[in-house]
Parts: sequence; C-alpha cells; structure tokens
Amino acid sequence: MSDAISSTSEATRPQQATSDGFEVPRHVAIIMDGNGRWAAARGLPRVEGHRRGVVALRKTVRAAHDLGISVLTIFSFSAENWSRPQSEIRDLLSLLRRFIRNDLADLHKSNVRVRVIGEREDLSPDICDLLQEAEDLTRNNDGLTLVVAFNYGARQEIARAARRVAAEVAKGRLSADDVTPELLARHLDAPDMPDPDVIIRTSGEQRLSNFLMWQAAYSELIFVPINWPDFDQAALEAAIAEYRRRERRFGGLNASTGS
Ligand code: FPP
Repeated sequence: MSDAISSTSEATRPQQATSDGFEVPRHVAIIMDGNGRWAAARGLPRVEGHRRGVVALRKTVRAAHDLGISVLTIFSFSAENWSRPQSEIRDLLSLLRRFIRNDLADLHKSNVRVRVIGEREDLSPDICDLLQEAEDLTRNNDGLTLVVAFNYGARQEIARAARRVAAEVAKGRLSADDVTPELLARHLDAPDMPDPDVIIRTSGEQRLSNFLMWQAAYSELIFVPINWPDFDQAALEAAIAEYRRRERRFGGLNASTGS
C-alpha cells in the first residue's frame, strides 16, 4: 500500500462496529467484477481496468481494516480465468506480482494477515514463492485477515477437500461414516476462516461464478451495479448497511416473532 492503512492503533481499533457504532459483518467476501467494462466505457484497454481494480482493492482493504472487519476475501483470479487471452493472463499475473511486491510491507506494518486459497500446484514457481512469502511474513499478524482467492474455484476446492478426506480413509485414519459436513469443511483450503456473512459482487452480475460455494450456504448476497474500479469505502459501507437490513435465520425462525 502506498500509505499507512490507518492511523488508528490496533489497541483502540473498534471490533465489528462502523463509524456510527453499528455492527459490521465479521467476514466480507468480494467478487471484484467489471474491470473490463469500466475500461471499455472509457475507451481504455482492459488492462487499465485491472490496474484501477488494484487501486480499488487497496482502498477496500484499508476500509475493511478501519471498519473492524475481521476477514476480507477477494476473488482475484479464478480457475476459469485461464481461458482468457494470454496477454490478459500475463497482465493479471504481473499485477498480482506487483501488488505483493509493492504492498506486502505496508500490509504487514498494518498487522494484516494474508492467506491464499486456490490450487497452487499448476502455478509458476515465482508466483508460488510470492504467495508463500506473503503468508509467511504475515503469519503472526492478528488484525484484518486478507484471504486472496487465486487460481480458485469452489468446485475444485470441494474436490480437493474430498481428496484429502479420501486419502485419510484410504490410510485407515477415518472411516466413510466419519464423513460429515463438519469434517469436509475442516479439509477446505482455509478451514479456520468463518463462513462469509456477506458476499458482494460488483458490476450488476448476479451469480456466484464458482466462488466459495460451500461457505456461502447462509451468506447474504449483495449485488451492486457499479464496476469494481469505482468501489470504495462509501460503497463498502452502503453494502454493509444493506446487510444490516437483512434478517438472517440460518434455516430457523425469527427469534422474536417466531415466524
Ligand atoms: C473481473 O473483471 C476481475 C478480474 C478477472 C480479476 C480481478 C483483478 C483485479 C481487481 C486486479 C488484480 C488484483 C490482484 C491482487 C491480482 P472482468 O475482467 O471480468 O471485467 P468484465 O466482466 O467487465 O470484462
């Protein structure tokens, strides 16, 4: 990050409360969509939309930190994005490299812990090393956790979890009867993260696109019409205000009205 994330010290940082004192979601996940459309609307190349997307990402990480959100998950490159033209893939990979090289020290200084979910095996060694370096450097930080979904697809993640469980069964450490939703959840890529309270998607598209499908079982879904490069603290606060108007019942009944 180009400047300090916040001047508020960790000791005084409000937990789960916005500037107006209301509750904020613990885990916010974002599908950062619309970079290409943002660029096209301005007659700019798609890469310019992605570059401005990184600027919006910095603003959003800072806002999430300041609002006292515990976990922010971002969909930065999907397992399906490899089908894009080679030149765009190169641009996205170099933006990721630059983001980690330029922003990691500031993220660390701001007590942000970086986690990465997704398949690492098929990634080039330099990208793997950078992702690992980000996780290693920030491992003991206990401020905002930034979960970067990179080369990520939810079906692939669920299949990975199933493979890990199957390997335990094959070794005789588990039996088929031990396989419950809770056990499978413990074999996902970041099993210690709480499920997202809210998933925000920008650009007006209304679908999950293979993002956190296991964890989204009871997430509130919020679709905002603006393209990702225009997202900022005000847009995040507006999405949180919408979240607070939702009634979460997790399949049960409203505790006060019984309906
Ligand atoms: C969707 O816009 C966005 C992406 C495919 C990637 C998101 C990437 C960034 C915000 C910048 C890179 C950040 C890191 C950390 C790698 P789109 O291209 O699908 O837009 P469109 O639907 O309008 O074409």
